[in-house]
Amino acid sequence: MRLTLSVIKADVGSIGGHTKPSHRMLDVARQAVAEAVGKGLLVDGYVAHTGDDIALVMSHGRGKGHPEIHKFAWNVFTKGTQIAKQFGLYGAGQDLLADAPSGNLRGAGPGVAEIEFDHELAGRRPAESFLVLMADKCGPGAYNLPLFLAFADPMYCAGLMLPPMIKGFRFRIIDMDNTTGDSTIDLDAPDHAYEIAALLRDNERFGIDGIFSRTYGEQAVAVSAQRLHAIAGKYTGKDDPVAIVRNQGIFPAPEELLSPFAKAHYVGGDARGSHVMPLMPVPLNTAVTGMYCLPIVSCAGFSIDRDGRFADAEIDFFANPAWDEVRRRAQEKAIEMRSQGWSGAAMLPYAELEYSGFRDTVTGLVKQFKVQADQAA
Ligand code: 13P
Ligand code: MG
Ligand code: MG
Repeated sequence: MRLTLSVIKADVGSIGGHTKPSHRMLDVARQAVAEAVGKGLLVDGYVAHTGDDIALVMSHGRGKGHPEIHKFAWNVFTKGTQIAKQFGLYGAGQDLLADAPSGNLRGAGPGVAEIEFDHELAGRRPAESFLVLMADKCGPGAYNLPLFLAFADPMYCAGLMLPPMIKGFRFRIIDMDNTTGDSTIDLDAPDHAYEIAALLRDNERFGIDGIFSRTYGEQAVAVSAQRLHAIAGKYTGKDDPVAIVRNQGIFPAPEELLSPFAKAHYVGGDARGSHVMPLMPVPLNTAVTGMYCLPIVSCAGFSIDRDGRFADAEIDFFANPAWDEVRRRAQEKAIEMRSQGWSGAAMLPYAELEYSGFRDTVTGLVKQFKVQADQAA
């Protein structure tokens, strides 16, 4: 069968500031997913939150960008928004930037990651497993470094030295500043690893959109790489990307995929979307209550049965105590960075400051600068 995995996420409101959605909102989302499975729109579905973002993980047979699937997700987020409004929650409907879009949600606010593939549980995929990364309080390129290391560096993924992976992977990179459409470039690793790095170093402009096996052409990764700021024309909330990553066999194994997250690398985001802080791996359904909106990422793993069902059981990768040590290091890195407050690397550069008010302050002051009288031409 032809199977599509769609992960669509949005922040539509949260309790006591931007911490987490309410149980009522999550219950409504879970109920809607169960009904959609009952009606046959979805084969299966799973709902989780990371910080204030709700992610719908769905399998179905309708293909990528299907209007009915996207409309369903939009309706779930609209219902969540109504609850958030009713109970006075913060940021109700924050990521719903369009008025009732009829088709594809890309560009309408919610983050979308989708992969479509032949699902036979035979041949090179005798078992189909995937993981979903869900982040909060961080910019769209938060996965650039860890996914590059997992798919292009044998220091992190020894599996790259095995015959099914030794030809490497194709990286589809998107220029998120281009809002006229999805503007992408395909670059192959390892041949063009340095060019890939040259783009991916800029987490705010360039993001991994997809990663493909060069040997089999199969898609391994889809990321919701888009920049809300570029879509809305102003800061409305942080991008908080999601990613689908198929694993095992012809793709890296979960341990290879997740080991780069042990870095707790610095990403743009956190308070007012305008700072630089380490990305902390956390268990599923963690609220953001840490210092200065520390960026967080959670990871759910699933196996897919013959019919495309997967939600019967999930594995919570970052719930393992092994990640406690990483969390402690992330917190130490965060405290170090916060100790320099607004200075230099602790905040995003001027052009990337998400709260335009910061820029307004600076621009207003710049207008008042005067060349000293004795030096004027
Ligand atoms: P969210 O996008 O998660 O709502 O975060 C917004 C923010 O600015 C945090 O300070
Ligand atoms: Mg929010
Ligand atoms: Mg968020």
